[in-house]
Amino acid sequence: MKIRVDLNLSSCDNSYDILIESGILKNCINAAERRRNGNCSFEYEETAGILKSAGLKGRTFIITSETVNGLYGKDISAFLKEYGVKEEAIFVLPDGEKTKSLEYLSRIYDRLIEKKLERSDFIVAFGGGVIGDLAGFAAATYLRGIKFIQVPTTLLADVDSSVGGKTGIDHHAGKNLIGAFYQPKAVIIDVDLLKTLDKRELINGFAEVIKYGAVLDAELFAYLETNYEKIISFDKDSLIHIIQKSCSIKAAIVKEDEKEEGVRSVLNFGHSLGHAVEALYNYEGIKHGEAISIGMIFAAKLSKKLGLCFEDTVSKVKNLIKNSGLPADIPKFSPEQYLNAMKLDKKVNERQIKFVLIKEIGKFEFKKLDFDFIHDFLNETI
Ligand code: NAD
Ligand code: GLY
Repeated sequence: MKIRVDLNLSSCDNSYDILIESGILKNCINAAERRRNGNCSFEYEETAGILKSAGLKGRTFIITSETVNGLYGKDISAFLKEYGVKEEAIFVLPDGEKTKSLEYLSRIYDRLIEKKLERSDFIVAFGGGVIGDLAGFAAATYLRGIKFIQVPTTLLADVDSSVGGKTGIDHHAGKNLIGAFYQPKAVIIDVDLLKTLDKRELINGFAEVIKYGAVLDAELFAYLETNYEKIISFDKDSLIHIIQKSCSIKAAIVKEDEKEEGVRSVLNFGHSLGHAVEALYNYEGIKHGEAISIGMIFAAKLSKKLGLCFEDTVSKVKNLIKNSGLPADIPKFSPEQYLNAMKLDKKVNERQIKFVLIKEIGKFEFKKLDFDFIHDFLNETI
C-alpha cells in the first residue's frame, strides 16, 4: 500500500510516498532479472516507481546501527543494488539513544566529507527512531541539505518517527533540543523486518499507535482494544493494518501543519510528562513509548480533573496501556523534579505548559496550564 504525504506548497514541493508492504527487501532478490524476463512482482514495480519519483540517483551512504546491520546489512545493500543504486559506504553506529548526539553526528560528517558525497547523492536512514532522527539531521545539514530516504526497522519508527520530517539530536540539557524539519524523499516500510524485534521494542512502538487512536481516531482505538494481543504477538496482518492507519493519520496532520505551528502538537499527547520521565531516568532504563504511556494516563487524568472527559475515557486509555504490557504508574520523583524537567520542554512559555488533553476517545483539546496548577495536580497524583 502506498500513502502520499502531500506537502506541495506554493514555494516548494516536499511531498513523498510511504510504501508499506511485507517482504520488500527479500522480494527484491533477482527482481531486476525477473523484470527483464517479464516476470516481475507488483512490489518491485511499486518500489521502483517510488525510488524513481524520489529522484534517487548517484551514490548512497547508508547509516545504520550495529544490530540492524548484523541482521539486515546485506539485505539493504542487495536491495539498493537491485534498483540500480550505487552504495558508497555503510556506516554502522552503536545501538541506543546515546548515539543521537553531537559526537556521532560529527563522525557522520567526517565520513560524508571523506567519501566526498555531493548534493546529487543521498543518505539512507536504516534503523529505528534513533538512526532516523540522526541520519535525517545529518542529511538536513550536510552541504545545506542532501536527499535522504527512511527505511525504518522498528514499529515506533514505522508508525511515527520516519514520517513527518522531524530530525535531530539530543543535548545533555534535554531531548531533541537541536534539530530541523527536513522531509525524506520516500519512506520504505518492510513489515517483515519487525520479526526480529525484541517484544519490549514492539510494545514500545505500540504506545504511539495508542496515542493516534486515543486522541484522533476512535475506530482505530476500538481496533486496538480488540486486537492488541495479536498485534503484540507479531501478527503480520494486524501490524500492517495499524501501520497503515497510523501513517495515514500522521500524513494528514503533517499536511495541515508541517512545522508544528498548530494542530501537529496533538501528536505530543502524553509527551509533556513523558519527556520529563525520560529525562529523570537520564534516558536509560525506560523507552520513549513507555514514558509516553505514563504521560498519556497522566494527561487523561488531568483532562478529567478539568472537566473535559469522564472517568470512562481515563479507564479506557489506562486499560489498553496496561493490558498491552506498557507501564501505567508514575515513577516516584517529586512534583518539583517533574516540573523542572517539564520546563525544559519546547512546549513551554511564560510559566505555562501547552497540554494535549482528551475529551473522549478520538477527540482532543489544547490547554495552556500554569506551573502552579500542574504542581498541585502532580502532588495529588503521585
Ligand atoms: P531505537 O532506534 O533505539 O531502536 C531500538 C533498538 O532496536 C535498537 O537497539 C536497534 O538497534 C534495535 N532494532 C532496530 N530495528 C531492529 C530490528 N528490525 N530487529 C531487531 N532489532 C532492531 O528506538 P526507537 O524506539 O525505534 O526510536 C526511539 C527514538 O525515536 C527516540 O530518540 C525518539 O526521540 C525518537 N522519535 C522521533 C520521532 C520523530 O517524529 N522524529 C517520533 C517519535 C520518537
Ligand atoms: N512525533 C511527533 C511528531 O512527529 O510531530
